[in-house]
Amino acid sequence: MKVVKTIQEVRAQVQEWRKEGLTVGLVPTMGYLHEGHQSLIRKSVSENDRTVVSVFVNPIQFGPNEDLEAYPRDLNRDMKAVEEAGGDLIFHPEPSEMYPGHFTSFIDTTETTELLCGAVRPIHFRGVCTVVGKLFNIVLPDKAYFGQKDAQQLATIRRFVRDLNFPVEIVACPIVREEDGLAKSSRNTYLNPQERQAALILSKSLKLGKAAIEQGERSAQRIIDIIRQNLQTEPLARVDYVEVVDFENIQRVETIQGETLVAIAVYIGKTRLIDNFIIKG
Ligand code: PAJ
Repeated sequence: MKVVKTIQEVRAQVQEWRKEGLTVGLVPTMGYLHEGHQSLIRKSVSENDRTVVSVFVNPIQFGPNEDLEAYPRDLNRDMKAVEEAGGDLIFHPEPSEMYPGHFTSFIDTTETTELLCGAVRPIHFRGVCTVVGKLFNIVLPDKAYFGQKDAQQLATIRRFVRDLNFPVEIVACPIVREEDGLAKSSRNTYLNPQERQAALILSKSLKLGKAAIEQGERSAQRIIDIIRQNLQTEPLARVDYVEVVDFENIQRVETIQGETLVAIAVYIGKTRLIDNFIIKG
């Protein structure tokens, strides 16, 4: 397993692999890897001859009052996690390598980024899509792997890949959770023990919503109410949003039918956590 920091080095390595006729998978990450990321790496390793993992805390997807500085970073830890999961190469560029002076071009999206996180993090998805598009152009992977944990991100990346004809197959991977149900996230490290316990309210509330749908409830508003009311029972939780949307276009639905995304964002203390489930109505 190798770590490279420049675009030139990744390109050279991938070119070598291509000459040997090998296929390449890409797993974009911001590092501080956990079993959620490792599940993506393992999936890529199982479907491609070589797997590149990018580790880059992408400054342009963080708003001015967000956690860019505080975001956890530990390359040695990440190297072990990638190695353990069978990845072949880490691409770990400096911000100046990805964004040299006077950077003025972006991948912008509409529709799928209007609601949910897009509504409250205005520049976030422009930053995500731009860096992911750059990574696709740098690595030229056959397939790229994304978690359903960030369902709006997944739907948005699928869309720009389709709209802009990026020659890459997007592979979706299920949410990996802690034993008690909390969705794994690098941001869970911000939680103190009391908050860590309170954070269980996210998965518990979603479970209630899912059970109601499974019992036949089809009204999106009823599901939103059930989830919201349960979230409000936790004093440390502050609801950012509870939304029921179609998973393809990320637009609100009144009735649950087809592939539906039920997504929530909740502050636990100062930490903003997201979670969701997708149900085929
Ligand atoms: P990051 O938050 O590091 O996540 C990298 C990938 O891991 C994403 O596709 C995310 O959905 C997936 N992931 C995170 N937690 C997961 C979990 N518990 N189960 C399954 N998959 C999980 O998402 C980003 O980075 C960035 O926005 C990025 C796409 C790298 C662009 O900068």
